Amino acid sequence: KRPAGAPDRSLARKVTKVGVVGAGLMASQMALLFLRRLHVPVVLTDIDQARVDKGVGYVHAEVDKLAGKGRISPDEANRLKALVSGSLDKAAFADADFVIEAVFEDLAVKQQVFAEVEEHVSAEAILATNTSSLSITDMASKLKHPERVVGFHFFNPVAVMPLLEIVRAEQTDDATLATAFAVGKQLKKSSVLVKDAPAFVVNRLLTRFMGEVIKSVDEGTSFEVADKATEPLGLPMSPMILLQLVGSAVALHVSETMHGAFPDRFSVSENMKKFVAAGKTAVWQWDSTGAQT
Ligand code: CAA
Repeated sequence: KRPAGAPDRSLARKVTKVGVVGAGLMASQMALLFLRRLHVPVVLTDIDQARVDKGVGYVHAEVDKLAGKGRISPDEANRLKALVSGSLDKAAFADADFVIEAVFEDLAVKQQVFAEVEEHVSAEAILATNTSSLSITDMASKLKHPERVVGFHFFNPVAVMPLLEIVRAEQTDDATLATAFAVGKQLKKSSVLVKDAPAFVVNRLLTRFMGEVIKSVDEGTSFEVADKATEPLGLPMSPMILLQLVGSAVALHVSETMHGAFPDRFSVSENMKKFVAAGKTAVWQWDSTGAQT
C-alpha cells in the first residue's frame, strides 16, 4: 500500500549511485545503510581527509562486523567495501542520482553545500537533507533546480530505528517525492510524509520532552533524579543517555530553532549551552546541580 500522501510510484527514478555529504555520526551510518540495502556505489565527502577516512573506516568496520556475525558472507563484505569510497571533492558525486547531506545544522552552510553539489550532478539528481529541524523550503530556495530537494530524516541509530520522516518542500516535485518514498522502501524504513514545519513531527515532540527534563535540572533538581523520573514512562533509553546518543550540540541547535519558531513553548537551557560550549560529550560530566564539572 502506498504511504499516505506519496505520489504514484511509477514516477520514481532509479538510484544507481549515492553521495553522502558529511562523514560524521549520522552520515556514516546512512552511508552504511544505503550500501547494504541498495548495493550501489556510495561516496562520502567531508571537509578534511581525516574525517573522510574516519567515515569510510566506520563503514568498513561495520561491514566486517556483519560478516563476523555471519549476517553476510565474506564475499559480500568485500563487494560492499569495494563500493564505498571517500573524497574531499564533490566532483566525486558526478553520476550520483541521490545525494544526501548531514552536515552542521546551519541553514547557510547547508544552502552552500547544496549549491556546490548542484554544480556536479545532473538536473534531475535528488538532493536530500537529513536536517532535524531546518526548513527544507529555505534550503531549496537558492538552487537552480529546487524541485529536486526533499527532507529525508533518519533517527539514531540509523540501522535500528524504523521511522523515516520524508519532508516535501514547497518546491518539491512529484518525481522527487516518489523517488524518496521508493528509496525509503528499499532501505526497509517506515516512511511517513510530514509537513515542512520546524523540527517536523518527531523532534518537535522530543525537544519539548527533553527540554522539560533539562529545565527541571536548571531549576535545581539533581541530574540523576530528573533522569530517573522518566522511568515510569517505559522509554527504551533514559533522556540523558539519549541526549548523549544524539549529541548535545545537535540537541541544542534543535532547541534553538524551536525557541526561535515558538518562543512561548520552547526554551533553551543555559546549562546545556555551557555544556556544549565546554565541548562535553558525556552527560554525567555534569554535577548533580546541573553545573558542568
Ligand atoms: N548503532 C548501530 N546499531 C545499534 C546501535 C548503534 N548505536 N545500538 C544498538 N544497535 C543494534 C544492536 O547491534 C542490535 O542489533 P542486532 O539485534 O542486529 O544485533 C540492536 O540494535 C538491538 O540492540 P540492543 O540489544 O543493545 O538493544 P536495546 O534493546 O538496548 O535497544 C536501542 C537499543 C534500539 C538504541 C534502544 O535503546 C532505543 O530505541 N533507544 C532510543 C533511540 C531513539 O529514541 N532514537 C531517536 C533519537 S532522535 C534522533 O535521532 C533525531 C534527531 O534528529 C536528533
